[in-house]
Amino acid sequence: MTISTEAMNRLRERRDRITQNISPEKLAELHARGSLSARERVNTLFVAGSFQELGMHAHHNAVTFGMTGRELPTDGVITGTGYVGGMQVAAFSQDFQVLAGTMGKMQARKIVRLMRHALRVGVPMVAFKDSGGARIQEGVDALSGYGDVFYYNVMLSGVVPQIAVIVGPCAGGAAYSPALMDFVIMTRRNAYMFLTGPEVIKAVTGRSASMDEVGSAEMHASVSGNVHFVAEDDGHAIALVKSLLSYLPSNNTEDPPHDLSMPIDEMADPGMIDLVPADSSEPLDMQLVIRRLVDRGELLEVHAAFARNVIVGFARISGAVVGVVANQPMVMAGALDMNAADKIARFVRTCNVFNIPLITLVDVPGFLPGVEEERGGIIRHGAKMLHAFASCTVPKLTVILRKAYGGSYLAMCSQEMRADMVYAWPSAEIAVMGAEAAVKILYRKELSQATDRRAKAAELTQQYRDEFASPYAAASNFYLTDVIDPADTRWMLALALRKTLG
Ligand code: HXC
Repeated sequence: MTISTEAMNRLRERRDRITQNISPEKLAELHARGSLSARERVNTLFVAGSFQELGMHAHHNAVTFGMTGRELPTDGVITGTGYVGGMQVAAFSQDFQVLAGTMGKMQARKIVRLMRHALRVGVPMVAFKDSGGARIQEGVDALSGYGDVFYYNVMLSGVVPQIAVIVGPCAGGAAYSPALMDFVIMTRRNAYMFLTGPEVIKAVTGRSASMDEVGSAEMHASVSGNVHFVAEDDGHAIALVKSLLSYLPSNNTEDPPHDLSMPIDEMADPGMIDLVPADSSEPLDMQLVIRRLVDRGELLEVHAAFARNVIVGFARISGAVVGVVANQPMVMAGALDMNAADKIARFVRTCNVFNIPLITLVDVPGFLPGVEEERGGIIRHGAKMLHAFASCTVPKLTVILRKAYGGSYLAMCSQEMRADMVYAWPSAEIAVMGAEAAVKILYRKELSQATDRRAKAAELTQQYRDEFASPYAAASNFYLTDVIDPADTRWMLALALRKTLG
């Protein structure tokens, strides 16, 4: 017995109705503002022909909610698996065309089913968020659905990479799901995220606030730190997902995609020395140093707009994937404040769970002094950095370029944090504090008696640098692996990386 034409037509007709649930006019409207439809997002992410949908026909029981006759295709979320490059990835994409992509029990069951697949097989999760929040008609069922998703976000955490892409509204408790994931990408124009929006804030506190002030991508990327990447539009957001995945393993039992077949060329780079300003009070631009160290000058900077006094991101050195952590002396002299400490600690922990070696580049004058910092808990935040570096077990290579003072020297992955190798440039100054401040404390009497105080101060400062802060003082006590020519940094790191990766 063969399947009747009628049955086959019915299947085709149902599939078409589900997959083509958006009018050409609506689609054109989305495209005009840099958005894609939920299905286009999935299709753009995956290699053509590799997407397989899970639960296309599942939807809530309309009768229960007094919505008989109304179709909610896919229950407002497309879920499935596909390939990004050669890597299997699980993805869901909320469909705003279906009751504003709201979350109900069936939507949550579909998402959770996919998350369990990701956990069982060990593949990354990508979540496109575009939703009006909890589906009001479903009451506590909707809340329970969120609870189930949060639970699995936590179960997946540290096991497979999780990437949230906020492409529309993400309001209320719904925002906790992205916050539980490893990376959050948000589009600049069409997305907003908040726990309580401007209206509720006004009603409760009396303070007026704009949507941009409390929920824009710009704000979250630069002020709250909830967002790691701002994308110009949906296409850019998906390109960022692919770029991120190119540095990550499928799960915590695998290595990231190193290419260790690449030969290490022992080529000196004399241009590196020119990046160090002759005057030690002039800041060095760490971005320029990083671009010279990494393959093709490519750094995928994470949290680029947040705590800009430090830089974290992914790159490759002679084919080996690395997480780069660095001070940026061009901003706040590269000092460590609460946000910088949070940014570094979180990045180090992420690299550690996904087996990504760490390269730490140090030029740090200290933790930022200030009433706000002390009252805000800089001790608590700074401790997270020490904890992250000390506890992580991936290869850790540190280069001290210039300043490395006090507690911040230790917090930037010193030998005591069990860095595998600590290299220093001849320009390094490793000490309890900066030379000028130290001289004022140590030589108050000499300075007050000197006829030419300025000349005496300069002489004592130089003496301090040579005696107490010189890299050779640290190296002679075996706190450094070596003092190296800056021109050799790239190939020295490449070789040491291969050896520490084993
Ligand atoms: C059910 C909803 C809905 C919701 C929107 N719709 N939000 N249905 N539950 N939460 C429906 C609308 O009734 C409408 O149905 C359709 O979706 C499209 O919505 P519009 O308002 O016409 O679209 P738009 O003008 O683009 O506005 C979208 C919106 C707005 C900004 C999302 O609808 C809105 O503010 N919705 C409420 C958002 C909200 O407060 N959610 C609950 C947050 S609290 P029709 O029938 O016209 O097609 C929460 C708690 C979670 O989420 C806690 C988890 C722990």
